[in-house]
Amino acid sequence: MQIDLDFADRHVVVFGGTTGINFGIAQAFARQGARVTVVSRKRENVEEACAALGQFGGQVNGVCADVRDFDAVGRAMAASVAAFGDIDVLVSGAAGNFLCEAKDMSSNGFRAVVDIDLVGTFHVLRQAFAHMSKPGGVVLNITAPQSSIPMRFQAHACAAKAGVDQLTRVLALEWGPAGLRVNAISPGPIAQTEGFKRLIANGAGNSGDSNANVPLGRLGSVDDIANLALFLASPYASYISGAVVSCDGGGALDSVKPTLEAAGARATQTNA
Ligand code: COA
Ligand code: NAP
Repeated sequence: MQIDLDFADRHVVVFGGTTGINFGIAQAFARQGARVTVVSRKRENVEEACAALGQFGGQVNGVCADVRDFDAVGRAMAASVAAFGDIDVLVSGAAGNFLCEAKDMSSNGFRAVVDIDLVGTFHVLRQAFAHMSKPGGVVLNITAPQSSIPMRFQAHACAAKAGVDQLTRVLALEWGPAGLRVNAISPGPIAQTEGFKRLIANGAGNSGDSNANVPLGRLGSVDDIANLALFLASPYASYISGAVVSCDGGGALDSVKPTLEAAGARATQTNA
């Protein structure tokens, strides 16, 4: 279920917006009447996403670019602005991840993920600033619980997403006076996504069973995240900036799970 908020004729640019969670965000804005630009590396993903977004009847543009390439991001931004005008909502969500123990990870493997998630986010925001609608523009970075919860086999993504959170806060400080709001969304485990398949479904979280780790007892949906994006980009959130907002059913609160046995052992010691 998606909420209704009016984004008619607003220009929304979604980096990494051709699949998964970010595509869900692009779709939600298209449904609300926005002109939507999606950007990612693979032409087939861009074409497929544009065809699907076009079904909502609004204007859609797709551009191929790798967020690791600063100049390519600049060209994508310029093309999107030439087509649809200044950017009202910018979503930076391109990311990569794979599981690998740090002792086995190559320098290039670590760098690939940091370059996509963190340096890529800097590239996207840096190239967008001149083209953001001011005042009133909104930036949404897509981070992850890894930014504050250490997760085994994800040294690269943990480091990169921690950087994304701090980038969010620093740019909220620097860009607030220009009338821009900068926030981040931290999704929990989202069903039927690449990230979920790669990481959580095969037990990479701190304790494997993803449903058991969520106090609300279910996986998230792409719509859960899209609804938060619509809200944060809307006037209802006009005093929210510099926030990293979790949308995870409470999952980030539950990263450490003591067993009843362990709790009992501590109680026994206290009474002794
Ligand atoms: N285990 C260990 N190392 C791996 C790996 C794995 N599963 N997958 C890639 N690497 C290493 C490669 O070996 C290479 O290092 P090397 O040159 O020292 O051998 C380095 O990472 C870069 O790999 P490459 O395939 O050239 O990178 P890429 O730029 O084509 O792709 C990735 C980037 C690796 C992040 C790729 O998984 C990707 O494109 N992911 C996007 C989708 C995604 O991850 N979605 C989930 C988001 S949460
Ligand atoms: P996904 O479907 O793999 O989405 C990643 C998107 O980024 C794709 O559109 C991909 O398209 C694009 N992309 C990847 N590398 C790129 C690059 N170098 N330059 C430009 N675009 C690039 O993954 P997802 O699971 O939906 O994740 C989306 C976001 O949510 C990510 O930021 C992820 O960290 C975050 N997240 C996901 C979960 C989850 O449960 N899935 C949980 C927490 C956080 P191309 O391949 O065409 O480039």
